[in-house]
Amino acid sequence: RIPHSFEYAGYTWAGMATNADKIISLKDRQFGPDDVVIASYPKSGTTWASEVLSAIAHEGDINLIRTVKINDRVPWIESDDSSLAANFPGLSSLRKRVVTSAKKKIYSTHLPLHLLPPSILRGDCKLLYVARNPKDLAVSYFHFHQMAKFLGLQNEMTWDEFMSLFCTGSLWYGDWFEHVISYWKFSQNNPQVKFICYEDMKIDLMREMESLEELVGISLSMEQRKEVVNHSSFDSMKCNKMTNREGNMLLDQSRARFMRKGIVGDWKNYFTVAQSEAFDELYQKEMKGSGLNFQFE
Ligand code: PPS
Repeated sequence: RIPHSFEYAGYTWAGMATNADKIISLKDRQFGPDDVVIASYPKSGTTWASEVLSAIAHEGDINLIRTVKINDRVPWIESDDSSLAANFPGLSSLRKRVVTSAKKKIYSTHLPLHLLPPSILRGDCKLLYVARNPKDLAVSYFHFHQMAKFLGLQNEMTWDEFMSLFCTGSLWYGDWFEHVISYWKFSQNNPQVKFICYEDMKIDLMREMESLEELVGISLSMEQRKEVVNHSSFDSMKCNKMTNREGNMLLDQSRARFMRKGIVGDWKNYFTVAQSEAFDELYQKEMKGSGLNFQFE
């Protein structure tokens, strides 16, 4: 249903933001030891993790990262500048690639595991997978469909319609269960890969910092660490024009804010009892034997 969408590898893609040639070309894209890729299903906390890793990559220099938009510091690898420029005239001039003094380069992707560039799969670089409980993620993705102009569905989808598409894996980036379980398995016993949950970052980001620094390969002082944690709190990122995507032509934030609520448990305000029960059943079936479980509140 996405206008200008195309099918590739069994997935529906938003043609206003990318194209099949771009996805295919990623097969040859090389990553190296100075790169860290953040992978996630959309709305899992990608932006939050991006800000934290970017701050670490800049050795905790918050003043520096405050001057560059997050999209320029952490490129989204499968987006295609020419597709975006063609559909959003004026955007190309905004999408300048800014080179900062970061010691490591951070990238983001929502690609399913098997479509990742082989260089990443081989372990040429580090990989962070960010996962979020699927009920809150669905609420966040529903709101994203109302604001993302490149999905072209702003006025068109009710919550009920959205949920049936989400549960059948018919949205952009496909089936959530398949996405998260494949990365979870890939991360097991793989020192190049770290799997982190949004809910754990919410409970105590400070506790997660050491292993995130280890993944990036840069350690911060306790002072810098505290500063990074404060800088990347929801309230701070919501007011920060470099992270809240204010003025981003791809989003209509009059309909929903990108930095919307940033909490665990908002699903209770959207799922009906019947939807929640049906989803729980699906969750039990799909997650069975995966060894992975999520916190829903
Ligand atoms: S995207 O479009 O896929 O890149 O979106 P993504 O960044 O993965 O997810 C957006 C949701 O993450 C919330 N968010 C945060 N939560 C807590 N703390 C911080 N710092 C933070 N930054 C972003 C954001 O508000 C979206 O969740 P919802 O539930 O919609 O508020």
